[in-house]
Amino acid sequence: MLRNHRLFWRQFRQEFQTTGAIAPSGRYLGRALARFVGASDGAQRVLEVGPGTGAVTEQIVRRLGPHDDFDLVELNEAFVRRLEERFASEPRFSAVAARTRVLHERLESLPAEVPYDVIVSGLPLNNFAVSEVEQIMQTFARLLRPGGVLSFFQYVAVRRAKSLVSNSAERDRLRGIARALDEVLHPHEIQRDCVLPNLPPAWVHHVRLPGAE
Ligand SMILES: C[S@@+](CC[C@H](N)C(=O)[O-])C[C@H]1O[C@@H](n2cnc3c(N)ncnc32)[C@H](O)[C@@H]1O
Repeated sequence: MLRNHRLFWRQFRQEFQTTGAIAPSGRYLGRALARFVGASDGAQRVLEVGPGTGAVTEQIVRRLGPHDDFDLVELNEAFVRRLEERFASEPRFSAVAARTRVLHERLESLPAEVPYDVIVSGLPLNNFAVSEVEQIMQTFARLLRPGGVLSFFQYVAVRRAKSLVSNSAERDRLRGIARALDEVLHPHEIQRDCVLPNLPPAWVHHVRLPGAE
C-alpha cells in the first residue's frame, strides 16, 4: 500500500494534469464506483478508465462474476507496470487475470470492439479542457452498449472552491465542464452516492447512457 502511495505521489508531481490527485482513492470511493459491477444476472464486459495503482480495481475484481471480462485503460506507463505486477502476483487480481487486459493507451483512442456493459471512470475531469471533457463523454457513449452504466466521480464543491480563487478564463473553463457534465447527468443519472469518508469527499454518479446509435 505504501508503495502505491509513493508511486502515486511521484506521478502526481511529474504528470499533475492527468494524475489529478495526490493519493489513490479510498476504499469507500472504490466501493461506490464499483456498485454496478456484478449487479446483473448475465455476464458483463467491464471497462475501468484511469485505474492508476489499482485502488478502485481492488473493488472491481472482488465483484467480477466467473464469466465477466475486464479491460483497464491507462495512459501512464508507470501505472501500467504496477498494475501488471499486481495481476501477476496478488491473489484477488491473479484470480481474474486470464479474463483481464491492461491496455496502455488513452481512453479516447480505444477502438469500439464489443461494447461494454459497465464503465468505471477515475479520470480527473476538472483538470481537463472543456473540449476534452466533451470528447471523453462522447467516447463513453461510443464504448457503452445501449442501456449500459457509466460510473464516475467528482470531488464535492471542488469546482466551486476553485472558481472562487481563479481568473475569469479558468472560471469559464470550470463552468464549461459543469455544463458538459450536466448535459449527461441531467437526462441520464440513475443514482448518486455521496462518499463522505474520502479525502476530499466525493459524489459518485451512475448514469445509464442510451449508447451509440
Ligand atoms: C485521479 S487518478 C485515479 C486513479 C485511480 N482510479 C484511483 O482512484 O486511485 C486518474 C488516472 O487517470 C489516468 N488518465 C488520465 N487521463 C487518461 C486518459 N485520457 N486515458 C486513460 N487514462 C487516463 C491517469 O494516468 C491516472 O492514473
